[in-house]
Amino acid sequence: MDRNIPERREPDQQWWRDAVIYQVYIRSFADGNGDGVGDVNGIRGRLDYLADLGVDALWINPWYLSPMVDGGYDVADFRRLDPLFGTVADAVALFQEAHRRGLRVIVDLVPNHTSDQHEWFRAALRADPGSRERARYHFRDGRGTNGELPPNNWRSIFNGPAWTRMPDGQWYLHLFTPEQPDLNWDNAEVREEFDDVLRFWLDRGVDGFRVDVAHGLVKDPGYPDEVEELTPGLFTHAEGMDHPFLDREEVHEIYRRWRKVLDYYPGERIAVAEAWVFPPERLARYVRPDELHQAFNFDFLQRPWSATELRAGIDNAIAATASVGASPTWVLSNHDVVRVVSRLGLPADTDTKEWLLSDGTMPRADLERGLRRARAAALLTLALPGSAYLYQGEELGLPEVADLPENVLQDPIHRRSGGTEKGRDGCRVPMPWSAEEPNFGFGPGGEPWLPQPSEWAMLSVTEQRQDPESTLLLHQSALRLRRSLPVSGELRWNEDAPAGVLDFWRGSALRCLVNLGTEPGELPEHDRLLLASGPLPREGGRTILPVDTAVWLR
Ligand code: NOJ
Repeated sequence: MDRNIPERREPDQQWWRDAVIYQVYIRSFADGNGDGVGDVNGIRGRLDYLADLGVDALWINPWYLSPMVDGGYDVADFRRLDPLFGTVADAVALFQEAHRRGLRVIVDLVPNHTSDQHEWFRAALRADPGSRERARYHFRDGRGTNGELPPNNWRSIFNGPAWTRMPDGQWYLHLFTPEQPDLNWDNAEVREEFDDVLRFWLDRGVDGFRVDVAHGLVKDPGYPDEVEELTPGLFTHAEGMDHPFLDREEVHEIYRRWRKVLDYYPGERIAVAEAWVFPPERLARYVRPDELHQAFNFDFLQRPWSATELRAGIDNAIAATASVGASPTWVLSNHDVVRVVSRLGLPADTDTKEWLLSDGTMPRADLERGLRRARAAALLTLALPGSAYLYQGEELGLPEVADLPENVLQDPIHRRSGGTEKGRDGCRVPMPWSAEEPNFGFGPGGEPWLPQPSEWAMLSVTEQRQDPESTLLLHQSALRLRRSLPVSGELRWNEDAPAGVLDFWRGSALRCLVNLGTEPGELPEHDRLLLASGPLPREGGRTILPVDTAVWLR
């Protein structure tokens, strides 16, 4: 039977439409073997924690064989795990143990590039210009009399030129580091290989894929210069058509092809796009009914703490996804951006790159305010229609570790910028599980690969479990309520809400208010207060909704 022919199944539940998906940054989640780096067995040991927290699924960052030049986003073999993390058998055991607890598991898929240690790239280096081996990547002759100039002006998203020259004179393309050569998606072998990689993991029980750089796979075969050179950075995006390597029309063929592979399998396996594409209508094209299921909503993540800004972001995302029959997603942070507590504790106009370079001193983040806002933001996003992504540590209110010393930094962005950017390590510091144990219970023995700040004892899971007001228990309560109510139905705004306050209903089960203004407000009449992100003072018989606070009412 041709496995590409979908057996059209009536989706039995479309679980992803309102799922809460917890992002496990595997290097920093839990270390099972004491080598200082998180691993699959570490995750297996913490599945009860995740089930108890009340999330529906996990997304695990890359765990494949990798020289770790870009934290595992440089994959040398898509069908093997790196020994740092475990084995395929461990992964299968994890899928099964997660499923027994009602948790689904999504893994990262990195289709834009391989590692330079991947057997295909090594073969390409040995092969001649024009060979089948080189055709799987983007090898080109240079410009200039002796080909000494790169084929065009494209710049790497991680700084510097996007081309590296080989000893034989040809150049190859890498949108990220030179150790991450870009695959050529016009090549049939590349397409077939990825169909097969998808099946490899689907056959072993995975519930879906997070697609890295989903908007970047296809390049203009004429390799024209970029008219306007992009500023390097992960926020690089395409605002419309005709960019030579971002958000090109042809990427959608790939996703239609993958959707057929996914739909062949029972149990609603999904794919979610990491695509820095704006505006939301453009992004919605990735989640048309025969393409991917979801796309991360980075527009929402980048919006400042302002009622008008967030409301516009929410309305745009709902409208754009509805126009293609998909559901929106909400993202407050991930392993590539400054942690939400710090971001919301900084003045809105802060250049976070500069702030990180100053080790978090200029300006200093107001972490109390940031935490208040992050807690309110959690109640906001968990009340919205659609699905929410929660980055590990968000449930603990972890701040960015902005003052990591230079000698521990591992992010290639730091090295490639010549030290003018600090990079993303500050949001990747290993989790504090216990106040008492060495390395805050991250693992037995071995120093964690990035140092944990001593103040994190207080933020550890064991400490927060004992504090009814903790950020951990707030998340747990919200997730349980979200399931039990259930929070469903369309979002309906209260148009009469005071300036600075977001106020909406989800069906009859839930009303959410968030005060993003500068003045305390008042709670409207309600049957029951379900949950509040912070204390609600009483004043003359009225209940006050303080600034930077959210509530769920019945
Ligand atoms: C996006 C990933 O989230 C990021 O961590 C990685 O560096 C790049 N893609 C390159 O794969």
